[in-house]
Amino acid sequence: MAKVKTIYVCQECGTETPQWAGQCGACKAWNSLVEQVDAKKATSSKTSRFTGYSGQATKVVRMDKVDLSELPRMSSGLSELDRVLGGGLVPGSVVLMGGDPGIGKSTILLQSLCKISETDSVLYVTGEESLQQVTMRAQRLGLATGDFSLLTETQVEQITTQALMQKPKVMVVDSIQTIYTEMLQSAPGGVAQVRESAAQLVRFAKQTGITLLVVGHVTKDGALAGPRVLEHMVDAVLYFEGERDGRLRLLRAVKNRFGAVNELGVFAMTDEGLKQVKNPSAIFLSKYQDPVSGSAVMATWEGTRPMLVEIQALVDTSYAPQPRRIAVGLDHQRIAMLLAVLNRHAGIATHDQDVFANVVGGVRVMETSSDLALVASIISSLRNRPLEAHTVIFGEIGLAGEIRPVPNGQERLKEAAKHGFKRAIVPEGNKPPKAMEGLEVIGVSRMDQFIQLI
Ligand code: TYD
Ligand code: MG
Repeated sequence: MAKVKTIYVCQECGTETPQWAGQCGACKAWNSLVEQVDAKKATSSKTSRFTGYSGQATKVVRMDKVDLSELPRMSSGLSELDRVLGGGLVPGSVVLMGGDPGIGKSTILLQSLCKISETDSVLYVTGEESLQQVTMRAQRLGLATGDFSLLTETQVEQITTQALMQKPKVMVVDSIQTIYTEMLQSAPGGVAQVRESAAQLVRFAKQTGITLLVVGHVTKDGALAGPRVLEHMVDAVLYFEGERDGRLRLLRAVKNRFGAVNELGVFAMTDEGLKQVKNPSAIFLSKYQDPVSGSAVMATWEGTRPMLVEIQALVDTSYAPQPRRIAVGLDHQRIAMLLAVLNRHAGIATHDQDVFANVVGGVRVMETSSDLALVASIISSLRNRPLEAHTVIFGEIGLAGEIRPVPNGQERLKEAAKHGFKRAIVPEGNKPPKAMEGLEVIGVSRMDQFIQLI
C-alpha cells in the first residue's frame, strides 16, 4: 500500500505541523501533538474519515420516506445486556465496552457471542489472547458454540479484510488498545492509533452492516488513550464496573443512540463465568442484624427499576486545616452543599469534622434522591446513634432547607415494602394518597422536621 502522509495536530488549538514536537509552536501547550492521517493528502478511500451512518453515498431524504424496517433488534443472548442496550443489538451498530482490565469484558462478550453463534455467524477477533486461550475458556464455561470463528490479529486492515471474507453477523474486537493501523507510525495503544483504528472499524461496520462490539480498557492515567477518545464515534458506550474483589459487576450505558442511558445490568462473577442477576433490587443491602450508626438505606431508581442501597457515612474530628469531604459513589460537590444546608437550617455544624460517605457494594448513586439518606447517615454518625431499623429514606434537599419530591416515589415505596421495610421517610409530595400495607409512610417537607424525626 502506498505510504499515507501523516501530520501532527495539536489537540488544544488544532494547529497542524509536519513534525512531532514536545510543545505546540502556536499555543505553547505541552504534549498536545497527536499523529493523524492527512485528510487533504489522502487520495484513496482507505483513509478513514468517518462518513456518516451508512457510509454509502449520501442524499437528502424526507423523514416520512425513511425506511425503518431494516432496524430489527437482535438479542445478545444475555437479557441483562439487552436491557442496557435498550432492547438488543442493532445491526450495523458499534458498541464500545469499556472497563478496568480484568473486570470481565472478554468474558461477557464471549458468553454473548457463543449464544448468538447458535443461530448466526460470529467472529471474535482477539489481540490479547491466543486461539487456544479463548477456546479453552469457552469450553471451561460450558458454552455451546455454533458458527463461531476466531481470529488473532492486531492490524486493522487485516482484520477488515478477513472479516469481509467471513461476513459474520456480529463481530467482537478485543481490545482496541492492541489494534493498530499501518497508516500511522506511532505505537499501538496511543491516542492516535486507537482513534484511527477505531474510525476504520466503525466505518467498516457501517458499510457492511456487521454489528461490532469493541473492547476498550480504561487506562489508569485518566482514560486518555482509552474509551474516552472513542465515545463520539460509536453508537453506544457501555461501562462494566464493580469492585475487583467483589463478585458483583454492573453494566451501565453512558451513551446510547438506540435507547435510554440510565439502565443498569447486574451480573455476578462466578467460577462458571458471569451469571445474570435478574432481580437485583436488594442485593446491595448488607446482611448484619443490628443497626449500626452512620448507615441509612435508600431506594434509588435505576433506569426502569428501583433498587435498595445502603449509604454509609463516617464523621470524625478533623485535624487537617481543611476538613475533608470524601464521597465514594456519590457526588462530592453535593456533600459540601448538604453540609452547608445542615449547618444553616438545622444548626448542625461540621466545619471541624472530616466527612466520609460511601455507597455500599460499589454502586454509584448520582440521583439527588440520595440527599435525605445521606444527611440521615451523617447525623447518625455524628451522634453515634443508629437510625431506627427497617427504615427506608429518600428525597431531595433544596438549598432553602425544603424537602422536594423525587420521581417514581410509589414504585420505590413498593419495593421497600416488598423487602420487609416497616417505615419510610419520604418527601411530603411522595406520600401515597392511600396507606400502604405493612409500611408506615411519613412525609416531611422541611429539614428541621426531618431532623426531629430521626
Ligand atoms: P476477563 O473477561 O478476562 O476481563 P477483561 O477482559 O475485562 O480484562 O475476566 C478476567 C477475570 O474474571 C479474571 O481475573 C478471573 C475472573 N473470572 C472468574 O472469576 N470466573 C470465570 O469463569 C472467568 C472466565 C473469569
Ligand atoms: Mg480481556
